[in-house]
Amino acid sequence: MTNLAIFASGAGSNAEKIIEHFRGNSHVRVALILCNKPTAGVLKIAENHGIKSILIEKEDFFSPNSCVSALKDHQIDFIVLAGFLWKIPDALVNAYRGKIVNIHPALLPNYGGRGMYGMRVHEAVIHAGETESGITIHYVDEHYDEGDIIFQAKCPVEPGDTPEMLAQKVHVLEHRHFPEVIENLLRS
Ligand code: GAR
Repeated sequence: MTNLAIFASGAGSNAEKIIEHFRGNSHVRVALILCNKPTAGVLKIAENHGIKSILIEKEDFFSPNSCVSALKDHQIDFIVLAGFLWKIPDALVNAYRGKIVNIHPALLPNYGGRGMYGMRVHEAVIHAGETESGITIHYVDEHYDEGDIIFQAKCPVEPGDTPEMLAQKVHVLEHRHFPEVIENLLRS
C-alpha cells in the first residue's frame, strides 16, 4: 500500500478530487492531510472523509528536521502539494526526493516562483494578454516551481475573461487530470 499525504492551504477542491479518486483503491490510500491554515476548507474535507489531518505551525514546519519524522511516523510514501503555499524545506525535499509533486495553475516556467499562487497567477496571465494558460504538474525541488515537469494541459484565455473565469477553467483541468497523473506516477 502506498500512503499519500496531501499538503494544502486553501479550499481543498483538488485534495477532495484526489481523495475521491483513490477511495477504495487497494494500492493507494490518502493517509494524511497536512494544512497550515486553521480556517482552510481542506480541514473540513478531511474530516468529512474521515482522513487524519495535521494543522502545522510555521516553526515546526521550518524546524531543522521539518516534519519529516511526523511523515515517517505516518508511513507516508508520497507527498502531493495541492494548493500548499509554503516553500518545502530542503530537509523534506531530500527525505522525499522524486516523491513530492506540486500542481501549479499556469504553464510553467511562466508565471511561477515566489508570490505566484492562486488568483495572483490568473491576474498576471490576463494582464499580460496571454491567449492561453493551463496547469503544470511537476516534481518539487529546492526552488519554487522549478522541478522537472511531469504534465501540462492548456486552456484558452478568451477576450473578456476575468481572473475568476480563468481560475474556473484551470480548476476544471486540475480536477480532470491531477488524480490520474498521480495514479500513473505511482504505477510506474
Ligand atoms: C489550485 O488552483 C492550485 O493550482 C493553486 O492553488 C489552487 C488551490 O485550489 N496552487 C498554487 O497556486 C501553488 N503555487 P484548491 O484549494 O481548490 O485545490
